[in-house]
Amino acid sequence: MLLTAPLAAILLLVVSVAADPIVVRKSPVSLPIARHLNITGAHDLIRKDQARARNMFAASKVKRSGSSASVSITNEGVVYGASVGIGSPPTFYNLLIDTGCTNIWIGGGKSYVHTSSSVALSGTVCESCGSGFCGEGFSDIVTLGPTLVFRASIGVASASSEGFDGILGLGPPDLTTGTLSIIPDILFSQGIIPDDLVSVSFEPTTNVSAPNGELTFGGTDSTKFTGTITFIPVTTTFPASEFWGINGSIRYGASTTILSTTAGIVDSGTTLLLISTDAFNRYKTATGAVLDASTGLLKVTSTQFSNLQSLFFTAGGISFELTANAQIWPRSLNTFIGGTTSSIYLVVNDIGSPTGSGLDFINGYTFLERFYSVFDTTNNRVGFANTPFTTATTN
Ligand SMILES: *[C@@H]1O[C@H](CO)[C@@H](O)[C@H](O)[C@H]1NC(C)=O
Ligand SMILES: *[C@@H]1O[C@H](CO)[C@@H](O)[C@H](O)[C@H]1NC(C)=O
Ligand SMILES: *[C@@H]1O[C@H](CO)[C@@H](O)[C@H](O)[C@H]1NC(C)=O
Repeated sequence: MLLTAPLAAILLLVVSVAADPIVVRKSPVSLPIARHLNITGAHDLIRKDQARARNMFAASKVKRSGSSASVSITNEGVVYGASVGIGSPPTFYNLLIDTGCTNIWIGGGKSYVHTSSSVALSGTVCESCGSGFCGEGFSDIVTLGPTLVFRASIGVASASSEGFDGILGLGPPDLTTGTLSIIPDILFSQGIIPDDLVSVSFEPTTNVSAPNGELTFGGTDSTKFTGTITFIPVTTTFPASEFWGINGSIRYGASTTILSTTAGIVDSGTTLLLISTDAFNRYKTATGAVLDASTGLLKVTSTQFSNLQSLFFTAGGISFELTANAQIWPRSLNTFIGGTTSSIYLVVNDIGSPTGSGLDFINGYTFLERFYSVFDTTNNRVGFANTPFTTATTN
């Protein structure tokens, strides 16, 4: 969806009020996040993923053209909520984590509770993310996790976000509209966290709604990954360069090339592992899978599943292995996506454009639940590491 909010209407939301007793920790802070599936039956999963991919292409083109329009990137099949406190004493809100927004927005399930720490900002604040937000701006005390307390600006919108009390924006710097800052940036610039980065842990789960994730601001959580983190520089290839984009290649089994080295992105808001149409066709041939009409996903027989080779994503000189189990949709959740309980569906699907588009793969949630990820603004790079769940047979 194209939004036409002029940039002039977007005010700087970030203020700092020196009088507050802000604890300077200079150490990373972790925040648990809970996954919710927002999928309503047949074809909804693939429809949402492909729509998001199309919107990302559109958003990057709008940005490059210098136009003042912005494109929303929503409609996520997998969404995450975090409990965030606002005010002193804090009221806790269940906020939707959205990498397409940059600020904290309250609006929806719970109204904004004013306390002595609320300071009204003048004028209306707007951000063209999600379905587009406008409202009153406030500077207030924000509490993330048990101990991270800092002052930031928040928007109080009348628009609601289905099932949530608002938005916790975490967009990468390239998605921001210039004057707006993002939460890790605020924390870093206030000296609260040692590095301007966010790390993400998702664990595979067969539960529709599960508190199975963790965001760590300013560092990594060594209990969530094994071995070392491989860092990959953000790609210079447009339009992947506008997101958390990297160069990588994909191989099936020992030697079947699915995708030669090209640019793509890492995106927690995409559910599947999407690859360019020709790569998808090579994967389909290699696995013998057929496209299932009711889910829009590839489907394999149990014999094909037992013969399924690993899929290797190679970047930064390291191959990240998606085992057969990592390539399938959790079978206990088949009925949520319009499938049948006894079927086996694959999480690799078609991005909707041929190789060479500058954004030829999207490593979505189904990839990220097998690998710990680090989004490092300071060094302009993305990191991956194995986890205790990389080879889990949960699905
Ligand atoms: C869930 O999906 C519906 C459309 O299917 C969308 O309108 C809604 O915004 C989504 N909710 C979230 C929290 O993303
Ligand atoms: C799913 O998660 C909910 C909330 O955490 C929990 O009550 C429920 O028991 C879980 N179900 C399964 C099958 O693990
Ligand atoms: C990524 O690939 C492009 C195209 O081959 C190349 O120009 C670029 O140097 C590569 N590396 C990065 C970090 O962009």
